[in-house]
Amino acid sequence: MVSKQLPRLEVCLSPALLHLFDTKDTVVVIIDVFRATSTIAAALDNGAFQVLPVASVAECIAVSKSTPNSLSAGERDGRVAEGLQYGNSPLEYPREFIEGKTLVLTTTNGTRLLHMVQNADTIITGSFLNLSAVSEYLIAAGKNVLLGCAAWKDRFNLEDTLFAGAVINNVQSHFSINCDSARAAVHLFHQSKGAFLDFLKHSSHYNRLAAFGLVKDMEYCTTPDQHPVVPILKGKTLVVHK
Ligand code: MLT
Repeated sequence: MVSKQLPRLEVCLSPALLHLFDTKDTVVVIIDVFRATSTIAAALDNGAFQVLPVASVAECIAVSKSTPNSLSAGERDGRVAEGLQYGNSPLEYPREFIEGKTLVLTTTNGTRLLHMVQNADTIITGSFLNLSAVSEYLIAAGKNVLLGCAAWKDRFNLEDTLFAGAVINNVQSHFSINCDSARAAVHLFHQSKGAFLDFLKHSSHYNRLAAFGLVKDMEYCTTPDQHPVVPILKGKTLVVHK
């Protein structure tokens, strides 16, 4: 009997390493736990019509001006960028505010990595807020997977790697994993013992955002499965996978 070959799963720890991975025929999961992919999950689950990720602040303002019922949002270095109407906090987008609207979003690392990925089969976004939904999607898709950490300005970060480990913990029996960054991510996940917020309290971006008074954002972003949707890139826009 010929045993079925399992699809491959790898982890890219930083956008600077993306060129080392083959993204062809691969589902790429963009991960930016603090906070871009958490905000994307929250906005879409709360009824946003779409999220339009864009590269620059100028583009964000221009696209939002030309898109009906939209708002410009995002950050640079963790603060609301000058000229944008709203920031990159998942708590800014409750249903009563975001339902039916287009969120035009630009962020330091998350939307940057999203634009760097070329020729993938599919691009989705992941965060603790949609951990189980993303894990189930990957198992059902049965394709090669690259978990892509947005990191911080190309430097390794703990929160995205921890989330990659949480996904691998859920899906590992369905994939062939021969990648040391994936193994390291799972070790981190086990070490956290599920206390994600406590585990991340010494991380650099936690401290950067805490200094801006954004601890509530990080509490929210580390609570799994509050927004069980899979944001998927269709053309230039992120929508809920149906
Ligand atoms: C990013 O894309 O760099 C982040 O989401 C930064 C943040 O707003 O915390």
